[in-house]
Amino acid sequence: KTPLRLGLAGLGTVGMGVVKIIQEKADLLALRAGRPVVISAVAARSKGKDRGYDLSGYGWEDDPVKLAQREDVDIFVELMGGSDGPAKAATEAALALGKDVVTANKALLAHHGQALAELAESNDAVLRFEAAVAGGIPVMKALTEGLAGNGITRVIGVMNGTCNYILTRMEATGQGYNALFDECARLGYLEADPQLDVGGIDAGHKLSLLASVAFGTQVSFGAVELEGIERISNDDIAHAADMGYKIKLLGVTQMSARGLEQRMTPCLVPQTSPLGQLDGGTNMVVLEGDEVGQIVLRGAGAGMGPTASAVMSDIMDIARGTRLTTFGQPAASLIKATPAVAATP
Ligand code: NDP
Ligand code: HSE
Repeated sequence: KTPLRLGLAGLGTVGMGVVKIIQEKADLLALRAGRPVVISAVAARSKGKDRGYDLSGYGWEDDPVKLAQREDVDIFVELMGGSDGPAKAATEAALALGKDVVTANKALLAHHGQALAELAESNDAVLRFEAAVAGGIPVMKALTEGLAGNGITRVIGVMNGTCNYILTRMEATGQGYNALFDECARLGYLEADPQLDVGGIDAGHKLSLLASVAFGTQVSFGAVELEGIERISNDDIAHAADMGYKIKLLGVTQMSARGLEQRMTPCLVPQTSPLGQLDGGTNMVVLEGDEVGQIVLRGAGAGMGPTASAVMSDIMDIARGTRLTTFGQPAASLIKATPAVAATP
């Protein structure tokens, strides 16, 4: 059987999670995909770094754009991060050549998702990003496949593992959030710029992607009403607890007569509710469909294994011949120019 050949750009937390799965589960993947899934070549900043796995059998490129353009690469897997720079250039290079792209990069898609979806469509390429929203939870698959017969009425969720971990630990230990950064870094949760996490921006990126896929609208990150957790003090958490609540960074998106509402802000939730009991890096996404009612998805929202699991889900779909993009098929033409409005006047 013809192998599916990957070009893997980024060998950090997520990239090495993908290498681990491909090296340790090669037979299982080949069985499930009906063909071998192999890595042809990789790219990262530092070639000499010991990453704990043998990479000597893979080609190496210093330049991710060259990796994306290699003849022995069928799918470009972008796991570097960053909303512009090499991630954008290499993704565009791959799509322009009609190569499929799998990425975990919500910042890139929140800013350039529409243009990239159009580029993919015009070159008959597939753009998938399951890992970009809620880590290991297969939320994109649920929206685009499981709930395909539904009009989506609302999506609610806790979508940033770092913030949920920090808020949970602040309550348990009385520490301030700065003291908890090292733990988040050790767990592989943090963005390269942690301000994206605590500022609510990363979760806002994710909400804008969810909203676009759920409601068939253009990605409109600029219209997300955003507030992070930096102003939440230990006193706020203690007062909320006294009243039977927890503070969560909660995303809500729905379509109203005013347009698309998108809000990512700290909220009080009852301690005894499913959202209130969400600890650590766990995420929860509640999908509401007009036929099915409410679906609750819960799982690890960040970290090596869970995120690599979601990346592999996209790779395996493409290996099996699925031509659906995450935005739908065809991609760009499904996306309506519905105006997005901030949730609160
Ligand atoms: P890391 O910082 O751990 O890894 C980034 C990798 O990209 C490193 O291997 C780095 O090389 C490489 N890299 C960075 N810049 C360049 C460049 N200019 N050229 C070549 N290689 C480059 O990030 P993560 O693995 O945590 O995240 C990767 C992506 O996945 C991001 O978009 C992130 O938002 C997303 N994501 C992360 C999750 C997580 O839990 N960590 C969860 C969901 C999504 P080197 O190692 O040599 O420095
Ligand atoms: N920094 C992100 C988080 C990684 O903490 O949720 C997963 O997207």
